[in-house]
Amino acid sequence: MQVIIRPTREEASRLAARLVAKALKAKPDLVLGLATGLTMERLYAMLVKLHKEEKLDFSLVRTFNLDEYVGLPADDEHSYHHYMKKHLFSQINIDPRNTHLLDGMAGNMEAECRRYEETIRHCDGIDLQLLGLGKVGHIGFNEPLSALYSRTREKGLTPATVKQNEKYFADPSQMPRRALTMGVGTILECKHLVMLVTGDSKAAILAKAVEGPITSMISATAIQLHPHCTVVVDEEAAAELRAQDYYRWIFDNEPDWAEYH
Ligand code: F6R
Repeated sequence: MQVIIRPTREEASRLAARLVAKALKAKPDLVLGLATGLTMERLYAMLVKLHKEEKLDFSLVRTFNLDEYVGLPADDEHSYHHYMKKHLFSQINIDPRNTHLLDGMAGNMEAECRRYEETIRHCDGIDLQLLGLGKVGHIGFNEPLSALYSRTREKGLTPATVKQNEKYFADPSQMPRRALTMGVGTILECKHLVMLVTGDSKAAILAKAVEGPITSMISATAIQLHPHCTVVVDEEAAAELRAQDYYRWIFDNEPDWAEYH
């Protein structure tokens, strides 16, 4: 794992966007895993900027989102289908047929999750998966005690996650209590993980995720098992990391990072 600390949210988001852009230029039909949430909005805004100003081409990209709420139709403004359309898909040249999201309205949730895993396999797996970090330490909606080998499935949300996200609903009681999510095992099979974490409210959980013992109580600790994982954070989120000096030294001295200085 490499931890990259940038001075601001803006710069952390820009670096994560440049990692995506580099992967996309190297492989135009990249299989890109997407996350939603507040943190990702800046990153998507930067990808849109790269598309508009530098002609970053998404025409062959295939995408898979991490998760979707159970019970919200795709056109509901709170669904992740809607989020993706608003923040990314409608503003870049992606083919909607290449964008994959779980169907939170599926009649048979188990079959829907199986279908999703099969579609990922059919695309030869996810090349680069974007991850955010929830306040409970989840990746996707893998809430505490999610098995580290778990696959895509339906999951009940913890009260803490409901609290984190209900503010986006005009009537907070309308926030779904269940979601479909890629499993921790599904995420660990992606070829490259890029986690973006910003803001002081994430400092304590980030330190546990990156430097703490691996535990299913904090599903993000599973990224420590992944052979190619890049964690991009701002100063505020980095505040409680013990080995900050080492992470900074790597970024300043490793030739791979020179192009991002
Ligand atoms: C959503 C997802 C979640 C979020 C996490 C952080 O697709 O995967 O794990 O990334 O809850 O959300 P924000 O960025 O809103 O703090």
